[in-house]
Amino acid sequence: MKNYQPAQNLLQDRVILVTGAGQSIGRTAALAFASHGATVILHGRKVEKLEAVYDEIEAAGWPQAAIFPLDLFSAGDKDFEALATGIRRQFSRLDGILHNASHLDGLRSLEEHTLEQWQVSLRVNLMAPFALTRACLPLLKASPDASILMTSETHGHAPAAYWGSFAVSKAAGEVLVKMWAQELELHPNLRINGIVPGPVQSTQRVRTHPGEVLESLPLPETLMSQYLYLMGSDSRGVSGQIVEC
Ligand SMILES: NC(=O)c1ccc[n+]([C@@H]2O[C@H](COP(=O)([O-])OP(=O)(O)OC[C@H]3O[C@@H](n4cnc5c(N)ncnc54)[C@H](OP(=O)(O)O)[C@@H]3O)[C@@H](O)[C@H]2O)c1
Repeated sequence: MKNYQPAQNLLQDRVILVTGAGQSIGRTAALAFASHGATVILHGRKVEKLEAVYDEIEAAGWPQAAIFPLDLFSAGDKDFEALATGIRRQFSRLDGILHNASHLDGLRSLEEHTLEQWQVSLRVNLMAPFALTRACLPLLKASPDASILMTSETHGHAPAAYWGSFAVSKAAGEVLVKMWAQELELHPNLRINGIVPGPVQSTQRVRTHPGEVLESLPLPETLMSQYLYLMGSDSRGVSGQIVEC
């Protein structure tokens, strides 16, 4: 899959929602999807960052993007339903979601980890992707070929000290992928998989590995053949998998 060569029109006419699209991996994935023909809905908290990605897409002449700011910590079912309704009104379809946004405020011991910190990690990294998927399910089921991609992290399946509620949220995200995949198996047009990007240059990486020389890591662009494979129709039939880049 690493050597996968996507067709230039792989995602033509598809509408794909990318959460956390304002920077790092999310921004790179939004640009990759748009450059392969998708209309991308850019989600994040900070509108200026989303506008910058929107402008890059417009300048490149790719399909016009849309912006949907929403704080995944405070959002409730009504907000996710409003997002889904907005997508239905504006585009009449949804063919994919990349759940990429994540909260990580630092590494610490469980002894120092507060309930409030746990609530943010679980709400942003686990509960919001669940609720957003659920709200968008009717649109995704109606698509001829839809893909949901949940971003995991190495410590989600190889737990280690100090990764706390972040690692627990990612581990539970992998469980969620497998449960959704089983519950959706009667819908062969709709697949859900997890993706573990591995270390790349990003804002989050600076927080988890402050002593590391960031430039020694690969760029997020090196991951994109695998993101495109899982988002496009060449991965039809692949569901319930956790793919390590
Ligand atoms: N970078 C790596 O090496 C690496 C390795 C393995 C896995 N991952 C996973 O890959 C994904 C992307 O990582 P990254 O390093 O690119 O992350 P990042 O640079 O830290 O970006 C995180 C994104 O999440 C959004 N976000 C955070 N809290 C939010 C909230 N409450 N509501 C809405 N949006 C929120 C941010 O949006 P705003 O800026 O608008 O707030 C930002 O766009 C994450 O799921 C991460 O766990 C990354």
